[in-house]
Amino acid sequence: MNIPHNYNVRFIWHNKAINNRLKRTALHGFYRRSVDDRLEIVTDMTKLGAEHERALRMGMDMDTADSLVENVVGVYALPLGVATNFRINGKDVLVPMVTEEPSVIAAASAGAKATKDIKAAGPLPYVIGQIQVLNPTKGAMNMIKVREQDILDAANNILSKRMSAIKVTYAILADEMIKMEIVVDVGEAMGANAVNTMCEGVAPLIQEITGGRVLLRILSNGAPHIGYAEAYFDVERAVAEDIVNAYNFALFDSSRAITHNKGVMNGVTAVGLATGQDTRALEAGAHAYAADKGIVQGGGSAYGPLSRWDIRKDILWGRLSMPLQVGVIGGLTTRHPAAAACLELLGNPSKYDLAAIMAAVGLCQNFSALRALATDGIQKGHMKLHRRRLE
Ligand code: MEV
Repeated sequence: MNIPHNYNVRFIWHNKAINNRLKRTALHGFYRRSVDDRLEIVTDMTKLGAEHERALRMGMDMDTADSLVENVVGVYALPLGVATNFRINGKDVLVPMVTEEPSVIAAASAGAKATKDIKAAGPLPYVIGQIQVLNPTKGAMNMIKVREQDILDAANNILSKRMSAIKVTYAILADEMIKMEIVVDVGEAMGANAVNTMCEGVAPLIQEITGGRVLLRILSNGAPHIGYAEAYFDVERAVAEDIVNAYNFALFDSSRAITHNKGVMNGVTAVGLATGQDTRALEAGAHAYAADKGIVQGGGSAYGPLSRWDIRKDILWGRLSMPLQVGVIGGLTTRHPAAAACLELLGNPSKYDLAAIMAAVGLCQNFSALRALATDGIQKGHMKLHRRRLE
């Protein structure tokens, strides 16, 4: 099968050397190796230092846990594996994934193996800060417009130099209630803390401008821009057609779309956990985006699939589009030793690249789930590991 290979996408890789070192051949039979062997191969390939290697083995100590949340009494561990075979925008990538579910990492790797190259892109790094105003004076909306630059200046005085407030929008939501939003370029961070601080900091000015009472001051986890991944998959024609049939089930039925998207999130969330992301924000954003992607017979939209599947040039083609609010500085990315190690393992990607990798994993995860469902069913793969446990 001749899979097209003519992509040209921006991919900023901070540590290009890692890609050159990554030899696919060294990973043959990876899953049959012992845990120690696998760790050695991965650390060798990605030139991980001893501290990062220790973090992959141990996760997090009690003191670190105690510095992160309240009332700590322990550390809860989950398996961390790497998905193989990923070639994204022309670069080989070993992808760390944290999940408790059998088959997820194998399925992501198998999905990636069916592609030649995945074209993927992260979203623009914008986050929206929301301010709710109750009982505004009559000319409040106009005043926000007139004072937009003052609001942006106040916001930028609060934000760090790496971020910038770029736009103010506003709308009437109900009688005596308006919202004002500030769009922030949060750079390489996820930006939640910074945007919340900004919202709280500008609130007195908004109160003065609108003459109303400011109540909520918080970011929105609804991302204004989306990332995507798309690829051609090498699969028999009959299976390709049934994958499209399976996609159509999700397109026309919300109950199926929920499970379809759960399969996508098996991959996205696993990479998110491994790299220290706020996975609740990722999930909330994804499902909100899917809210109108389905088709209701007779007209209208409903909750639908995050991915699309089609046969193009006689080959199965899939595309996953979704918001991916992630960060590679701040938050857990440096404070969780294993998350820092996973980012190092990935070659310290930019936030744009990390989002692209997550989209690629979500797409391959979805492909493998649909391929299994459209052929043998998923239990066969699940039971493999179960049988290994009993041996
Ligand atoms: C199981 O974790 C995920 C699947 O149910 C996804 C799907 O049905 O598409 C297999």
